[in-house]
Amino acid sequence: MDFKNIISHCKEYGFIYQSSEIYDGLAAAYDYGPYGVELKNNIKQYWWKSMVQMHENIVGIDASIFMHPKTWKASGHVDAFNDPLVDNKDSKKRYRADQLVEGYAEKIENKIQKDVDKAKKRFGDAFDEQEFRSTNGRILERQAKIDSAMTLLGTHMKNEDMAGLKQLIEDLEIACPDSGSRNWTDVRQFNLMFSTQLGNIAGEEGKLYLRPETAQGIFVNFLNVQKSTRQKLPFGIAQIGKAFRNEIVARQFIFRMREFEQMEMQFFIKPGAEMDWYKHWKAARLEWHKALGVPADHLRYHDHDNLAHYANAAVDIEFKFPFGFRELEGIHSRTDFDLSSHQELSGKKLQYFDPQTNESYVPYVVETSIGCDRMFLAQISLALQEEKVPDADGKESKRTVMKLHPAVAPVKCAVLPLLKNREELVNAAKDVTAKLKPHVNVQYDEKDAIGRRYRRQDAIGTPYCVTVDFDTLEDQTVTIRDRDTLEQTRVKIEDVAKIIGEKVDMSGLFPG
Ligand code: GAP
Repeated sequence: MDFKNIISHCKEYGFIYQSSEIYDGLAAAYDYGPYGVELKNNIKQYWWKSMVQMHENIVGIDASIFMHPKTWKASGHVDAFNDPLVDNKDSKKRYRADQLVEGYAEKIENKIQKDVDKAKKRFGDAFDEQEFRSTNGRILERQAKIDSAMTLLGTHMKNEDMAGLKQLIEDLEIACPDSGSRNWTDVRQFNLMFSTQLGNIAGEEGKLYLRPETAQGIFVNFLNVQKSTRQKLPFGIAQIGKAFRNEIVARQFIFRMREFEQMEMQFFIKPGAEMDWYKHWKAARLEWHKALGVPADHLRYHDHDNLAHYANAAVDIEFKFPFGFRELEGIHSRTDFDLSSHQELSGKKLQYFDPQTNESYVPYVVETSIGCDRMFLAQISLALQEEKVPDADGKESKRTVMKLHPAVAPVKCAVLPLLKNREELVNAAKDVTAKLKPHVNVQYDEKDAIGRRYRRQDAIGTPYCVTVDFDTLEDQTVTIRDRDTLEQTRVKIEDVAKIIGEKVDMSGLFPG
């Protein structure tokens, strides 16, 4: 389904609303509606279960959003958490200089892709894409333009060469996407942290930051957690929580927001073991996505060329969003950068005493970090489909269906009396609903014809519909309709909770 329709579906069906919409909204801020919050909570539960509860050596915390301002000096965010900002003087629009160059490369890549698609059509099965890309003159020329732009971008970003970036934008003749103007300001660094002020201290002293990542709450608590839980290396600390970034260009719905939620895990290890654990978590995190039913062709690794200030290796797990492959999750080998910096600035030892070697050292860290909102968008964009299905009288009709994995679907089961004006059906359906309530998130629905009610449940991803009909009154049975196969199975009322409970249980996602 195209991106516009996904966004409007999210609003129409109570998944996501624009924040403060009655005041025309606040850019890049969104509110999760009744079904959205259920789906988001289920995603978080899947992550928490697999990262914390399935591991004896990973524990969770919930740290405060406000932290001592020195935290962000030590972490490097005060000095280095910047994006290159450029304004267009005519349109007054702001852009990230690196994204303008990436957009230039993406446009050329789209042209290449068009040529590839055309050739594919022309040559059919005999078509060898790799050979075509490496021999076709026009493609080679275009690819060279991309490579040259991206290499220069990489160099300027690495050297923090803002003048070089401006020159690159001018040399590539990049125009403002809004106005077409090429009248650019100089490029300058823009710190992404939001700041605010403590109530009882004036001036710089009282300056507080909204955390731009949850990870630092874990680092500063490393020894507290290690001592109170008596963990031995290797062990991990996990956290789910809000993070805030003053993104220059926040767009693509909930993909890039200024307030978002992260699910992060810091894995503390012996120095020297980082590459083995990096490989381990890289593979484990990809499997986590696949276990939820994300097809392999929607996921890919992207190794970082420009490493963040704290990392010695980093990879993104990219997901094929409706607007292309983009970062969904990051796995970073952060060395001892954070713990050592905190140790230095705070003057407090943040070392682990290794009982095996009788030495104390600052552990190394491999981190996994995924945006909860991006995971939500990935799930919705994969699941939301339009398809033709046979309707009640055997004809074909179109339906919009959200094929979410039952374990994360917002509503697990809907109970529907066949007719709403027959008291005995309504009462029986309400009884069934009451029986299911303690076990799964269930919804009772009696409004409109049964076919329309099925469609409504399909649209919010409900995997099972239980229908109470006249046979129910005779033999205490109901039908369970499967959202994906449309098959209806008749079962006894006393078994419904067990059957549905087993089908939607999250434990099915964990092998072994
Ligand atoms: N602690 C490491 C860290 O924060 P990151 O790559 O900057 O690394 C991790 O962010 C994840 O957080 C990203 O992979 C993405 O899913 C999510 N994320 C980052 N910025 C975001 C934003 N502005 N809006 C939504 N999600 C974001």
